[in-house]
Amino acid sequence: MEFTGGHILSIGQFDRGDISRIFDVADELRPYAQRKRITRVLQGAILANMFFEPSTRTRVSFAAAFNLLGGEVRETSEIRASSLTKGESLYDTARVLSGYSDVIVMRHPEAGSVAEFAQASRVPVLNGGDGPNEHPSQALLDLYTIRSELQAQNKLVNGMKIALVGDLKYGRAVHSLCKLIALYDNIRFNLISPPGLELPDEVHKQLTARGHRVEKYHALGAGINNVDIVYVTRTQEERFPSQEEADRYKGLFRLNQSVYTQNCEPNTVIMHPLPRDSRANAQELDDDLIENPNLAIFRQTDNGLVVRMALFALVLNVVDAVHDHSQPVTWYTAKRTPHR
Ligand code: NCD
Repeated sequence: MEFTGGHILSIGQFDRGDISRIFDVADELRPYAQRKRITRVLQGAILANMFFEPSTRTRVSFAAAFNLLGGEVRETSEIRASSLTKGESLYDTARVLSGYSDVIVMRHPEAGSVAEFAQASRVPVLNGGDGPNEHPSQALLDLYTIRSELQAQNKLVNGMKIALVGDLKYGRAVHSLCKLIALYDNIRFNLISPPGLELPDEVHKQLTARGHRVEKYHALGAGINNVDIVYVTRTQEERFPSQEEADRYKGLFRLNQSVYTQNCEPNTVIMHPLPRDSRANAQELDDDLIENPNLAIFRQTDNGLVVRMALFALVLNVVDAVHDHSQPVTWYTAKRTPHR
């Protein structure tokens, strides 16, 4: 794809060359994320960070990524605090906001809303999650993490085996990740969900159409046997017709250290897009895994910063200028070795 001035809306717009490009830029920007150097390459640029659904990681890391490149951030973090509650259309909101900013990140509860918004925007729009549909930047940081975790074990993305666990129906992170991994070769997908929360047919078909092996499971044990990655997800309770219905699915699959030891290979990597639901009735990813060196959840969140920096640098076309605007850091900085 042409990154300069482009929107980042869906995994469907990428090919493998685009993904390599994003990851190469992310690698190059790592010293800035680690506070070894600072850059002012986006000095004067403004990000409108528009979150009309709850978010911690995506919202703060997009904002921090923009700041790390020297730009400023204006933010709305509640639909109630915006004029969308006064009946303003996405079209008008996009026309207005694109007059105030150089790039917009948007999260919204409706599938397709961010693409509709982007059509009216005069500046690049990055999808921070549109309802149950897609979450492309999450998938990119997940694959970036998968690649580095597998590299450490002398393995490749091509030929890997991944188990996706939990609410595969409403989980947009899973939808985007499946579509992204499907671009690679010879993948084994174990889809583990309760009956009723299976991966949507449309996504499932994209996997089989590319010749990958896809197996469905309705229980945790066998599906997490002999895989390289276990990717656990939360029941997306906010997408269910009622809380009672969501509650029926919570706590059905719980990955903890003893389930891991019983079923997984000793080096199986454990991932989760977060937030994990730590309430007593859920706990899909138990706190007792915290000492497990294969738990990659905080490496994922760290990687979110460099991947999002790379997206901004690419769509605003400053990749080659980043180092020209760079200086050493002068303040005390904590060591940022990878989370173990
Ligand atoms: C995910 C999301 O919002 O889709 N969270 C995130 O962005 N890291 C997953 C989730 O909320 O369960």
